[in-house]
Amino acid sequence: MTVVVGITGGIAAYKAVGVVRDLVKRGHDVHVVPTEGALRFVGLPTLEALSRNPVTTSVFDDVAEVRHVALGRRADLVVVAPATADALARMAAGLAGDLLGTTLLATEAPVVVAPAMHPQMWEHPATRANVATLRDRGVHLVGPVVGALTGDDAGIGRMAEPEDIVTAALAVLDDPAGTDRAGTDRAGTERAGTDRAGAERAGTTGVAGTGARGELGDLAGVRVVVSAGGTREPFDPVRFVGNRSSGRQGIAIAADAARRGAEVTLVSANVEASLTAGLDVRVVAVGSALELADAVHAAAAEADVVVMTAAVADYRPREVRAEKLKKEAQGETMTLELVKNPDVLADLVAARRTGQIIVGFAAETEPDRDSRIALGRAKIARKPADLLVVNHVGWSSGFEREENAIEVLVPGGDVVREASGSKAEVAAVVLDLVATALT
Ligand code: CTP
Repeated sequence: MTVVVGITGGIAAYKAVGVVRDLVKRGHDVHVVPTEGALRFVGLPTLEALSRNPVTTSVFDDVAEVRHVALGRRADLVVVAPATADALARMAAGLAGDLLGTTLLATEAPVVVAPAMHPQMWEHPATRANVATLRDRGVHLVGPVVGALTGDDAGIGRMAEPEDIVTAALAVLDDPAGTDRAGTDRAGTERAGTDRAGAERAGTTGVAGTGARGELGDLAGVRVVVSAGGTREPFDPVRFVGNRSSGRQGIAIAADAARRGAEVTLVSANVEASLTAGLDVRVVAVGSALELADAVHAAAAEADVVVMTAAVADYRPREVRAEKLKKEAQGETMTLELVKNPDVLADLVAARRTGQIIVGFAAETEPDRDSRIALGRAKIARKPADLLVVNHVGWSSGFEREENAIEVLVPGGDVVREASGSKAEVAAVVLDLVATALT
């Protein structure tokens, strides 16, 4: 297969060498197209040696061969790693001032980009708009992930690891219409002392398992996105602020939706890998709330139903340190400053397409049913999802357990169902309501 690897001018360009090497090792014919900026970070001879093909940045080389369009037309896959904020802007605008620009315009192959930049640049409305434009055009994104950045700081914006980029890019070829895969978060969350190894594997292998789709199920062909688990908000390479959500309720919903015939994407935040093994769903592994937000919005763009069971941290540490925080520097008390995360459910509701069904969850510790419902009413008034599933949690109920008790509210505050039982039974109740809402 012919793969074009575009490299743009960021520090992470040195890591793109790993992408080239991995693709060559897998037997692909790799053509590297660096920008001028990229060549300040990584040498042209290195790229030629690793790719075993000539490397050029200029549209004026090999004019006789019409190289500026030939490469793009020959490509079966185009990967841009790293994609700087500038590169995303150029791509969104369709600029063709260099060989990478012309290649990207000339190609009809799937394009996979791995952004890398500082968090402020990634969060900037201009970058968000460019990313949305590219996604609308079918460009697939891998990452960025939370982790150490250039210099002393850390946060979202680190390029996904080369092997994750390659795995995700090759998976796009198998399933070109598929949703983006969030980069897996080796750099951030795994170092944050979590058991991500399994989830990462799930995140990059996509559909697993053998369960035959229930072609005649009441969700046959319906595209369902489920978020599950709890986000982890790192503040140094080994520590995070997290919650006790196990992901079991979301997984039960994903599994039941698949059984009913739905095409399911499970955005899985720090869920034990054994819980998702063998499910007939696409698994996208994420670590932090910002990663989850990116993955859910990307998947939701194509979805008929979005079920937000994940416990998303409302706040994240303002500063993510690249080095371990030392207690000597803290004294007897330590203050962690937190900043607000985006509210994914609220943003989904605001951007909802006609006919799209959005389901929110509200974990409440309030033991009194009526008071709990009052809290649920306030929540659905703030975020008018189609259904709000209120569940009772506490030190010993709700989280990490098999049993669950719920009340389901609709906008306006009416309770349309109450149920308790196993998480599978609760899942069935929620999906019955979803199926009804879809008809
Ligand atoms: N949610 C989200 N993004 C966030 C926080 C929550 O999408 N940043 C979603 C959850 O997935 C869930 C619902 O919103 O579906 C929970 O609503 P929320 O008001 O955030 O509940 P709590 O976090 O329990 O809030 P509060 O502490 O105000 O009760």
